[in-house]
Amino acid sequence: MKKRYLVTAALPYANGPLHIGHLAGAYLPADIYVRYLRLKGKDVVFVCGSDEHGAAITVKARKEGTTPREIVDKYHTILKDTFEKIGIAFDIYHRTSEPIHHATSQDFFRKLYEKGEFIEETTDQYYDETVGQFLADRYIVGTCPVCANPDAYGDQCEKCGSTLSPTDLIHPKSMLSGSVPVKRPTKHWFLRLDQHEKWLREWINTGKAGGKTRHDPANWKNHVLGQCNSWLDQGLQPRAMTRDLEWGVDVPPEIPGSEGKKLYVWLDAPIGYISATKQWALDHGKNWELYWKSEDTSLVHFIGKDNIVFHCLIFPAILKAHGDFILPVNVPANQFLNLEGRKLSTSKNWAVWVHEYCAEFEGQEDVLRYNMIKKMPEQSDSEFTWKGFQETNNNELVNNLANFVNRVLVLSHKFYGGIVPSVNTELVFKSGWEPDKTGQYNEELAILHHKLEEMGTEIEHFNFREALRVVMEISSAGNALLQFNEPWKTVNTNAETVQVVMNLALQYVAVLSVAIRPFLPFSADRLRNMLNLSPVRDNGDLLDLLNELVEGNPVVQPNHALGVSQHLFSRIPDEVIQRQIDKLAATDSANQNADSNEQPSIQYTPVKETIQYDDFAKIDIRTGTILSAEKVEKSKKLLKLEVDLGFETRTILSGIAEHYPPEEVVGKQVIVLANLAPRMMMGTESQGMILLAENSEGKLSFVSPTEGWQNGMGVN
Ligand code: 2FM
Ligand code: ZN
Repeated sequence: MKKRYLVTAALPYANGPLHIGHLAGAYLPADIYVRYLRLKGKDVVFVCGSDEHGAAITVKARKEGTTPREIVDKYHTILKDTFEKIGIAFDIYHRTSEPIHHATSQDFFRKLYEKGEFIEETTDQYYDETVGQFLADRYIVGTCPVCANPDAYGDQCEKCGSTLSPTDLIHPKSMLSGSVPVKRPTKHWFLRLDQHEKWLREWINTGKAGGKTRHDPANWKNHVLGQCNSWLDQGLQPRAMTRDLEWGVDVPPEIPGSEGKKLYVWLDAPIGYISATKQWALDHGKNWELYWKSEDTSLVHFIGKDNIVFHCLIFPAILKAHGDFILPVNVPANQFLNLEGRKLSTSKNWAVWVHEYCAEFEGQEDVLRYNMIKKMPEQSDSEFTWKGFQETNNNELVNNLANFVNRVLVLSHKFYGGIVPSVNTELVFKSGWEPDKTGQYNEELAILHHKLEEMGTEIEHFNFREALRVVMEISSAGNALLQFNEPWKTVNTNAETVQVVMNLALQYVAVLSVAIRPFLPFSADRLRNMLNLSPVRDNGDLLDLLNELVEGNPVVQPNHALGVSQHLFSRIPDEVIQRQIDKLAATDSANQNADSNEQPSIQYTPVKETIQYDDFAKIDIRTGTILSAEKVEKSKKLLKLEVDLGFETRTILSGIAEHYPPEEVVGKQVIVLANLAPRMMMGTESQGMILLAENSEGKLSFVSPTEGWQNGMGVN
C-alpha cells in the first residue's frame, strides 16, 4: 500500500439527476474503497464534481428553453444533495464552471501547446446551416454504423458502446434543429495520440512507464485491459482537443486563432479532478501537488465502462504529455446495471432516480446501497429488479443482519440488564462457523480478525461484492452461534458458558459496527449507538480493531453498558414494491405512446447461423467499376452491367433496375462477389454478383469503396 491515495469518481454531467446505474457504476465502489482506506488510517482524498460543459449541457438547455448556466446550477445542486443523502463521502464535490477549473484547464492546454503536443489542422466538420453552428459530439445524432441504433450520438453509441466520430454516423441529423448538416472547414488543435501509442501500450500491459513500474496489470480488470488493447490495436489517431462552441473553457486567448474555440469537454473534465484537488487543498491548507505529482501517491479512477478510453488512454497521455503528473495505478471500471430487463435510460426515464428513492424511502438509504453492492456490475452487466430489492432486504438485511443484532441486544438486556458480561476464556461452546465444531473464545476472536483481513483484501482488489459477502458471513456466523448454543434455554443451567457466548456475540456485533461502515455507513452509526460506543472515526478505527483482535483482546469490554436496541432494518411490504413497479409501468406506457407517434421501429433480419473463418475465406470479394449498363429485355428487375475488375471485365446481371436507372450507375465503384459460380439468367451468363445493402423498406444501395479506389482489389 502506498503512502497516500487520491481517489476520483467520474464527474457526472450536470444535465440530469443521479440514477442507480451511476451509483452502482462509479460512486458506490469509490465510496466503499475510500471509507475503507480512511478506516485503515490512510491519507486519502476523494474528489468529484459536476461536469458542466459539453453538448450534454447545452443541448439540455436548448431543449428546456433556458441557459446552460441555469441547467448546471439546477442539476449541480440536485447532484450534490443526492450524493450527500445516499452517503457518498467526497472530500470535495466541485464544479467545472469554477474559475479555478477554467484556469487549470487553460494552463494544461498552454503547456501542451508549448511542448508541441498539438497539430493544428483544418478539416471538414458537420455544420448546421439553420442555427449556424458546428456539430460535434452530442450535437449530432444518426444511425450507428456498428449496431444500427438510429439514435447514436456523434461521439458514442449508447446502445453498443462504440466510440464514434460524427462522420461515422449514417444519416446524420442536427440535434439542434433536426436538419441534415453540411460539411464546412474549421481549424482545431489535435493531440498527437499516435505519438503516445507505444508507451501507452507498454504501460497498460506491463505497468511500466518511464523505466518505472507503476501498476500491476494482473490487478486490472480484464474488460478494462481488453477495451484499451482494442483501441490500441486499431491505432491511436490524433484527436481534436477543441470545439467551435459558445459554452465551455476558452482556448487561451493568446493562442493565435483561439477566438470562438473552446476546450473539448473530455480535455477539461478529467482536469476537473485536479482543480477539485486544488480547491480542497486551498480549503484545508494542504499541498495539492503531493496528490498529483508524488510517486508515493496511489491515483485510482472509478468510472463506468463508457469512460474507459478517456481515463486509460487519453487522460494518461495528457498527464504524460504535460510531464509532471503521476499516472493512475488502477481504473476499476464497472460494467452497466440494467433495470427490470432493460438498459437504464435518462431520456426514456427508465431509471430509479436516487433523489426520488431518498425521498420515498427515507431512513432506508443503506438498503439501496446494499442492493447496489450485491448487484454491482463488477465484471459483467447486471440487473436490478424491485422484487429482488425486496427479497434482498427481507432475507438478508432483516432476517440475517438486523435479526442477529436485535437478538444479541435484547438478550443482553434481558440476561444482564444491558451490561456486557465477563468471560471465562477457558470454557468451550458450539462455534457458529462450523456445525458440530467446538468454539473457544480467543480462537473465535482470531477468526473475526481473519475475516476482517479477508474483507480488506477483497476491497483492495476492488471486489466489493465479495467483500460484502465476507461481512455478511460474520453476521450469519453470529446467528448460528446463538442458534447452536440456544442461550435462552441454558441461561439458568449453564450460566457461565452463556456469558461467554453472549460476550462473544457482542464482540461480533461490535466488529460488524466497524466492518459494515464502508458499505452501510448509516447503519454503522445506528449500530454504534445501540452498543453505546462512540461513532466510528474515519482515521484508523479498523486498524485499532484489527490490533485488538490479533492480540486476543475483546473490542467491547466487560461491564460496558449497552444502549437500547432498535430495528436496524425492517421488512418492505409488497405494496411498497408494487408502487415502484407501477411507476415503471407508467413510464413504459408513456414511452410506448411516444414511440407510436414517432416512426415505426425497424425490424431487423435475424443474424444467420455462425460460420467459421474458413467458410468466409472461400469468398473472393473485389472492388470494381461499372463501365456500362442496360435494361434486360422482358425483365423488370435486371440491369446488364459490364464491370471492370482491373484484371478482366465481367458481365453481371444485377437486380437493381427498379432502384437505379442505367445511366445513373455507369462509373459507380462497386463491390463484387468475384468467385460466385456463373449463372444463366434471361439468356445471359452472369459472372458474379454486385453487393448491395438493403434497408428495412426494401430499398437498395450500392456499397462502394472510397472514390478513386483501384479495381480488382480484395475486400476482406
Ligand atoms: O460520462 C460522463 O458522464 C462524463 N461526464 C464523465 C466525466 S469523467 C471525468 F473525466 F471527468
Ligand atoms: Zn451502436
